[in-house]
Amino acid sequence: MSENDCPKTNPAHVAIIMDGNGRWAQKRGRPRLYGHHAGARRVREIVEACPDLGVKYLTIFAFSTENWKRTQAEVSGLMALFRRYITREARALIDNGIRVRFIGDRIRLDETLVRLMDELELLTADNDAVHLTVALNYGGRDEVARATKRLAREVAAGKIDPETVDAETLARFLDTYVLPDPDLVIRTSGEARISNFLLWQSAYSEYEFIDTLWPDFTAAEFSRVVGSYARRDRRFGAVPG
Ligand code: IPE
Ligand code: IPE
Ligand code: MG
Repeated sequence: MSENDCPKTNPAHVAIIMDGNGRWAQKRGRPRLYGHHAGARRVREIVEACPDLGVKYLTIFAFSTENWKRTQAEVSGLMALFRRYITREARALIDNGIRVRFIGDRIRLDETLVRLMDELELLTADNDAVHLTVALNYGGRDEVARATKRLAREVAAGKIDPETVDAETLARFLDTYVLPDPDLVIRTSGEARISNFLLWQSAYSEYEFIDTLWPDFTAAEFSRVVGSYARRDRRFGAVPG
């Protein structure tokens, strides 16, 4: 059976670019961080909707390698929010069988945050209900560059023959090496671009760009978007089935 003969089902891996927090706050005459807090509160509802929708893997874009360009106040407010979020949500994540992983470069993140991330990964390592991956200081180009560096080291050490290097070899060095590629990538807030998210992994992903600002994105809308995926015809380069 070729890939395009596969029965149409819900996407096993959904990735979300959670965009629009700033505009959501602005519309209410509030500071941007108010929008980020509202956005963070949305995450639990979406994660908890996954099992019933058949979504085993959920990957969310929380902070990009480019987001450091924002004001120092916004960046440090976001970092504080991430620390607080992990501390407060840990119990619910553990109890609900959510396995949490983080992707992105940890080198620029503060020590306390990195410790909390490591702990949460460890505490949820035996869970299997939903695999939640949080992209934090993540950029697709940065990830490919870091993967290439590690691969080059193995080649230099004589552990990998450069002649055998192919796409699968490189994929093993990516932050996402244990995850399947996303079937569906959703971006909220009306922008139709990928902003350096999962560049390699989304080569054949389906995209949904929706106008809703992230803090307004409900489980009902998530369910509708996931449902519309089942009507798509994925061809992976082959002829229509
Ligand atoms: C997404 O919301 C969250 C992060 C990038 C951290 P934004 O902060 O980008 O919100 P807008 O796009 O300015 O509305
Ligand atoms: C992408 O949103 C990053 C996250 C959602 C974390 P941005 O708001 O940073 O993207 P651009 O700047 O509009 O492309
Ligand atoms: Mg934005």
